[in-house]
Amino acid sequence: MQNFKEISPKELQENAFKLIGKDWMLVTSEADGIVNTMTASWGGMGVMWAKNVAFVVLRPQRYTKELVDESGRFSLSFYNEEFKKTLNYLGTVSGRDESKIENSGLKVAFEDGVPYFQEARLAVFCKNLYAQKYTPESFIDKKLVDLWYPKSDFHTMYIAEIEKVLVKE
Ligand SMILES: Cc1cc2nc3c(=O)[nH]c(=O)nc-3n(C[C@H](O)[C@H](O)[C@H](O)COP(=O)(O)O)c2cc1C
Repeated sequence: MQNFKEISPKELQENAFKLIGKDWMLVTSEADGIVNTMTASWGGMGVMWAKNVAFVVLRPQRYTKELVDESGRFSLSFYNEEFKKTLNYLGTVSGRDESKIENSGLKVAFEDGVPYFQEARLAVFCKNLYAQKYTPESFIDKKLVDLWYPKSDFHTMYIAEIEKVLVKE
């Protein structure tokens, strides 16, 4: 973890609304030697089952979802504004179609076998505890179904234990 130091989740000095919703994050996972990443701007961090957790939502067609399902582990990594174009690229093209990590110029690093990127300013390492696909019946506000799921590609929500947090020194 070159240039990074470990902090505890409760030491994080970040606003989750800005961090995830505005600055965006990369969800990165590895399975069978394949690393993939995608941009996400929906999710959160909090407490569940007396554990520090992060939650993310992945649509069924995401290649990254395959790797998260297989490995049960992923990182969430966060970047300075200068990487916004890179995050936009990684959130527009699928790793199924292009060697997008190579094209992005980001350098893969590993922590306890979980991939993230050397350029991150913050990385959160997660182990899945719970996964559930959203179902149309469960929506109380049905307008959300029409608005976000015209193709019925409902997200799966993952609640994952935060195992480690690294910040750039
Ligand atoms: C700003 C932004 C936020 C995104 N948030 C999510 C998200 O929370 N969940 C999701 O499934 N896809 C999200 N996406 C779309 C994926 O990043 C995109 O489909 C990506 O190409 C998937 O790559 P993959 O197939 O290599 O996994 C977002 C894209 C952008 C640009």
